[in-house]
Amino acid sequence: MDGNGRWARSRGLPRQAGHRAGTENLRRIIKACSEMGIKILTVYAFSTENWGRSMKEIKGLMSILERVIDQELDELHANEVQLRHIGVLDGLSETLKEKVQAAVELTKNNERLILCLAWNYGGRQEIVHAVRSIVAGGGRPEEIDEAMVESHLFTAGLPDPDLVVRTSGEMRVSNFLIWQAAYAEYYVTPTYWPSFGPDELEKAVEAYSKRDRRFGLVADASD
Ligand code: FPP
Repeated sequence: MDGNGRWARSRGLPRQAGHRAGTENLRRIIKACSEMGIKILTVYAFSTENWGRSMKEIKGLMSILERVIDQELDELHANEVQLRHIGVLDGLSETLKEKVQAAVELTKNNERLILCLAWNYGGRQEIVHAVRSIVAGGGRPEEIDEAMVESHLFTAGLPDPDLVVRTSGEMRVSNFLIWQAAYAEYYVTPTYWPSFGPDELEKAVEAYSKRDRRFGLVADASD
């Protein structure tokens, strides 16, 4: 969800106003995904690298998460949205940790849309976490394969993403789902996240539907 800061600056507003507008947009996109039949939406909201931002901005983002849980959870639950968290809760306040855990627990059986929240998430951190957990469980080198690594990622049990959308024009992966997105299609738009509405999502899905996904194979296997 990139470009909140630039969206705000281009309107002479503080960065936090951009994050608030980004949060409003997330509401629209969750609803659109639900209506379009998209089953899993993963949003990169706070990366392990974001700890390097000013304390004011970090506190602002944490307070948005807390407010979203306080004010939106009932509606998400009523709309059968399952909230999952990927990343680690270390570094969050005890109150916020408990709220995230309670929200995940409350919605765990919902099936209409899985909203996977990447918060304090980094792809490299996730792989290190998986390796540590395999080693701690006594995994022997010869039994470690891709399936075992996958089953220790934060996304265990979820399918790989089909499409990764990056807003604000940046042509970088930025440590997002680096294992899982090995064969994902990428779509980059110059639109800043707060302006990336349902119409833009539809454009992204349409572009995706025209891609020829080969998963490392040749275009026409009969050639
Ligand atoms: C990137 O834009 C955006 C973020 C680091 C924060 C994204 C968070 C939200 C939209 C809030 C969502 C909240 C919940 C509860 C999921 P940027 O700040 O890097 O923008 P810039 O690159 O233009 O400065």
